[in-house]
Amino acid sequence: MPVSEIEDLRSELARLHAQLAVHEREAERRERDLRCSYEATVRALAGAVEARDAYTGKHAERVAAYGLEIGRAHGLDTDDEAQVEFGFLLHDIGKVAISDAILHKPGRLTASEREQMRRHPVIGEQIVGGIDFLGDARQVVRSHHERWDGAGYPDRLAGEEIPLPARVFAVADTLDALTSDRPYRAAASFAHAREVIAAGAGTQFDPDVARTFAEIPDERLDAIRCALG
Ligand SMILES: [Fe+2]
Repeated sequence: MPVSEIEDLRSELARLHAQLAVHEREAERRERDLRCSYEATVRALAGAVEARDAYTGKHAERVAAYGLEIGRAHGLDTDDEAQVEFGFLLHDIGKVAISDAILHKPGRLTASEREQMRRHPVIGEQIVGGIDFLGDARQVVRSHHERWDGAGYPDRLAGEEIPLPARVFAVADTLDALTSDRPYRAAASFAHAREVIAAGAGTQFDPDVARTFAEIPDERLDAIRCALG
């Protein structure tokens, strides 16, 4: 092959290579944009769920941030951390199907009302189950009220039968519930929340996750509470 043809092939190859790099950058940008839209959609949905629950404020946002902090410290192995975060944010989405009369009832719920309320994880899973990009979020939504000792709902899973992200969620949820102001009581300290979580290790909570949580310094938790208070 003459040298000039080889040169032509070389420059054609370089041109194609440069074109490919441009396409790759564009594809990456599109994927980032898509992820941002997903995230905005999930946050808007989570906000809509919370808007009905006047006292919880940014509960889902804080639980998601605490949950990611604990999950990372615990070495939570997941293909897609964003999907787990979406599950934390949308954990109570099934409450959209629960009537205001039950959701906002000031006194104790009757047995049948409690039963309806307890359907929210299954309803939630049905809602998010049809959305492909939410993937593993389903596990958190369905299993966020399970307990380590098997006394939770809806499936009465026990121990490691409960998906790990849902076990992490349980600790994060209790942490936020105790350390947030509610109309009927002031926020408790992190020290108090740590005592409650340590006391529930092995019954309500996965003892390993509770141990991981115990090692996260107050400053990390404070940073989340201050940013999302
Ligand atoms: Fe819930």
